[in-house]
Amino acid sequence: MAYYSSNAVPCANWYDSAKVGILHDLLRSVAKTRASVLEIGGGSGRDAAYLVRLGCETTYTDGCEEMVAKALHLHPELAERARCAPFPLSDDDDLLCERFDLVLCAAVIMHLDDPNLERLASQVARLIVDGGHLVLSHSRGHQCGRDSRDSDGRLFLERTPAIVDEIFDAVGFREVRLIENSDGLGRDGITWTTHVLQKMP
Ligand SMILES: C[S@@+](CC[C@H](N)C(=O)[O-])C[C@H]1O[C@@H](n2cnc3c(N)ncnc32)[C@H](O)[C@@H]1O
Repeated sequence: MAYYSSNAVPCANWYDSAKVGILHDLLRSVAKTRASVLEIGGGSGRDAAYLVRLGCETTYTDGCEEMVAKALHLHPELAERARCAPFPLSDDDDLLCERFDLVLCAAVIMHLDDPNLERLASQVARLIVDGGHLVLSHSRGHQCGRDSRDSDGRLFLERTPAIVDEIFDAVGFREVRLIENSDGLGRDGITWTTHVLQKMP
């Protein structure tokens, strides 16, 4: 999180400029008006603000305080339901008592090692109502050393779509859609996989 704390302002300005038409079309297809939605690692607030425009009851979170502050500066309409929430959450976090129709977690899980991703997966399974959806994206192609860290020290653990499916399958999700697309920020060599997963009753 240290990288995002030190670079929240330039990162958020940059993320807010990303081309995300494919993601927003996907969100529109799964998010019903007045659905309750949680965003994890929401960065600039770009997608949470879009969900608010769709009429969803949107809770924006990010693990980095400075990023939350910048997102609220860019999108003040998120203020009512915004908070810092580093995942996986501690077991006594109040957020774990809430339930959502949809959880969005875009471009975050590469920064989590396997034990933390498995804890995030079981917390997300708890946070989503039966039949609800998880929209989850992750990248491939970042330039990293053998320790899977980039030159800024950020962890970029690259996982195949099958491995991500396996982790979420183990906590009760089944895949309903899988989309591969190019980088919304125009970077050569970086590709994205977006999973739409449904929580089985
Ligand atoms: C690459 S940015 C993506 C931001 C946004 N979701 C988007 O698609 O533009 C990753 C974001 O995840 C946040 N983040 C990183 N690790 C996190 C964690 N363990 N829990 C919650 N947020 C985290 C960072 O602060 C940053 O805002």
